[in-house]
Amino acid sequence: MERTLVLLKPDCVQRRLMGEIISRFETKGFNVIAMKMLQVTPELAKQHYAEHVEKPFYPGLEEFITGAPVVAMCIEGLDIIRVVRDMLGATNGLNAAAGTIRGDYSSSRQMNLVHASDGPEAADREMKLYFDPTEICPYEPTLTPWLKAGDE
Ligand code: CMP
Repeated sequence: MERTLVLLKPDCVQRRLMGEIISRFETKGFNVIAMKMLQVTPELAKQHYAEHVEKPFYPGLEEFITGAPVVAMCIEGLDIIRVVRDMLGATNGLNAAAGTIRGDYSSSRQMNLVHASDGPEAADREMKLYFDPTEICPYEPTLTPWLKAGDE
C-alpha cells in the first residue's frame, strides 16, 4: 500500500468540483484516510512549492494557491502515486487527455484543479506539511474483497 498527498486547489473549491473529484478517487477504489479544508499561507506555499520558488511563474502560483481555501487529502492504495498522477493528466489542462480530471475540467496551466505528489519522497514530505500523524485514519474497507484479489 502506498499513500499520496492530493490538494484540491482554490479553483476546484470555487468551481464546486470538490465532490466530483473526490468521487473519482473513491470510485477508483482508493481510501481517503485524511482530509481537511485550510487556507494556504505564503509560508506553506513556499514550503510546498520549494522547487518552484525561484521560477518566474512562482509569484502568480503563490497568489493563486493562497487566494481561497484548499482541501488537502491523504489517500491510500496500490501504486497510488503513479495512478493518481495518471488520473490527473498533463499539468496544462489544454494538453491533458480527455477522460483525465484536468482533461475533462481544466483549460489552464495554473488553474489545473488538483495537485498530487510526484514520487514517494515528495508524498512523504507533502503529507507531513499538511497533516500531523495523529490526523491520518487508515482503515480496512469492508469492500476490499470486491475491489481486488487477495494476491494483488
Ligand atoms: P502542480 O502539479 O500543483 O505543481 C506545480 C504547479 O505550478 C502546477 O501544478 C501548475 O499549477 C503550476 N505551473 C507549472 N508550470 C507553470 C508555468 N509555466 N506557469 C504557471 N504555472 C505553472
